[in-house]
Amino acid sequence: MSNYHIKNLEEYWQVYRKSIQNPEQFWEEIAEEHFLWRKKWDSVLEWDFSKPEVSWFKGAKLNITENCIDRHLATRGDKTAILFEPNNPKEEAQHITYKQLHARVCQFANVLKAQGVTKGDRVCLYLPMIPELAIAVLACARIGAVHSVVFAGFSASALATRINDCDCKLIICSDGSYRGAKTIDLKSIVDEALEDCQSVSKSLVIKRTNGNVTMKEGRDIWLQPLLDVADTSCPATIMDAEDPLFVLYTSGSTGKPKGMVHTTGGYMVYAAYSFKNVFQYTEQDIYWCTADIGWITGHSYIVYGPLVNGATTVMFEGVPSYPDFGRFWEIVEKHKVNQFYTAPTAIRALAKENLSFVEKYDLSSLKVLGTVGEPINEEAWHWYNDNIGKKNSPIVDTWWQTETGGIMISPIPYTTPTIPTFATFPLPGIQPALLNENGEELKGNQVEGKLAIKFPWPSMARTIYGNHQRYKETYFSAFKNMYFTGDGARRDAVGYYRITGRVDDVIIVSGHNLGTAPIEDAINEHPAVAESAIVGFPHDIKGNALYGYITLKETGESRNHDNLRKEINQLITERIGPIAKLEKIQFTLGLPKTRSGKIMRRILRKIAEKDTNNLGDTSTLLNPEVVQNIIDNALV
Ligand code: PRX
Repeated sequence: MSNYHIKNLEEYWQVYRKSIQNPEQFWEEIAEEHFLWRKKWDSVLEWDFSKPEVSWFKGAKLNITENCIDRHLATRGDKTAILFEPNNPKEEAQHITYKQLHARVCQFANVLKAQGVTKGDRVCLYLPMIPELAIAVLACARIGAVHSVVFAGFSASALATRINDCDCKLIICSDGSYRGAKTIDLKSIVDEALEDCQSVSKSLVIKRTNGNVTMKEGRDIWLQPLLDVADTSCPATIMDAEDPLFVLYTSGSTGKPKGMVHTTGGYMVYAAYSFKNVFQYTEQDIYWCTADIGWITGHSYIVYGPLVNGATTVMFEGVPSYPDFGRFWEIVEKHKVNQFYTAPTAIRALAKENLSFVEKYDLSSLKVLGTVGEPINEEAWHWYNDNIGKKNSPIVDTWWQTETGGIMISPIPYTTPTIPTFATFPLPGIQPALLNENGEELKGNQVEGKLAIKFPWPSMARTIYGNHQRYKETYFSAFKNMYFTGDGARRDAVGYYRITGRVDDVIIVSGHNLGTAPIEDAINEHPAVAESAIVGFPHDIKGNALYGYITLKETGESRNHDNLRKEINQLITERIGPIAKLEKIQFTLGLPKTRSGKIMRRILRKIAEKDTNNLGDTSTLLNPEVVQNIIDNALV
């Protein structure tokens, strides 16, 4: 029996039991058999959740790009590693083989070195979904630089915050990006951000749209001419297993975004292991994840997980609606995609459109369908299952987080029977627990509570960049000796997990994690605003949308409310990005507060959800009178 690749339910249970009874032996066997280490570890696992400190494969030496590329060259050199599908269907797809990927990563790494980037330096990547993004990620890893990819939909100010938080030395960006019919001028966003970033001395610019850009003397350099003369080999910098590989920002319920730090050895092992099992990848398969590399899903399941396994991974530059709503399915047919991994929000948007967009295409190559990022509702699940999978492709509803680095709870296709809305069983090595309000673990099945993880797993984030105390408070303080996820979950009669959603102030909109605090901060910058609170409410396509309750400094009708709404959303777009715009804005006379001054979001959430019959305990409110006023004027 192989620990690495599970093929049936009996095997799953055997492997799962082993992974719990003897985690170190379990992961050691996997690490030994399937990866290239320059030196083996001194210990498999050392951990103490009270500090919290976790290290996997301590003392081991490796470079993740040798695992992603070099060791495949002998057997898979001419196999396509990255299959790039451009935004415009008339532009030809690019097949980048493992050999070509090796040469391009080495050239890029040599350019970075020549620009003074060395091991441990942070490099910011702000790029569209073009092959250079994956290549830049790998080039950083090649020389031990820590990549910090920022999703290219974030605004200049959000980009600057992220650059400054981890003191990036250099940024890699492009002139622009294509998204459907739109061309976006990314370089000017970068220029604006860099005005506030003292640490960045160089910016390497990739040509994609050929738009007009301003190149700042001494700082901005076109990348291509440097690549053209760079050497196609570059020795990999040998890293410790616990050296940081990347920083990736995620929103918290309060404060600025958290730079989650992932390290090298454990992350590699877990990303590869989970990819292999959750997608049941076999050698000839074409695998496609529609996420952006700006999110963790892209890191683990477009770049690292697939490449460590020697897979062919599709990178798509565009959007599902361009040139029409059949684009995803056209690509599946064109490249004979076998595994397809997307977000519920995309499924819901496409399910609204005419079925002829699906029926035009031959989807018979599909073997596994996946979803990630938010709960999938039953209707969307069935649409996906019936029309895309034709009831023949199991759907893996994968639950995990930026912090977890890899998929934690998910069916294994052709192994775990699936039920809509259930993420089902934990993967081997993952030990979930459900806890009640008193922090007591709920044993047995048919229970619901807060979801925590009891034991370390190899790809867990090790800290928050520059703020270990916050890491401890956020994840290891709610429950003793456990990692707290911020999600709630139910365990059903057979032990399947169903994620019930966030139990904190993080709101998931179209699969994107949005903290309430930074959005409220942006709103409060408006000179007319006294204070604000935002909550999520159910939305047909986005899963959740944002509802803002805003109290103005001067009440009355002296200002045009529609203009104010526009100005506020404009501010949010500038500070964070269009994804954080408010769907509804209600101007209120006040916000319900506890005697200690805390806004009672629970009440605001119920009003936004149109569930005002049972507002729960309002006895601790300082100003109960505002509640009725808010209900009377609710935008529902
Ligand atoms: O609330 C959970 C939700 O997304 C959160 C993590 O968001 P992020 O760090 O951006 O990572 C998204 C991609 C891994 C979780 O705390 N979430 C993620 N997957 C699911 C989910 N909720 C329900 N079902 C899922 N499959």
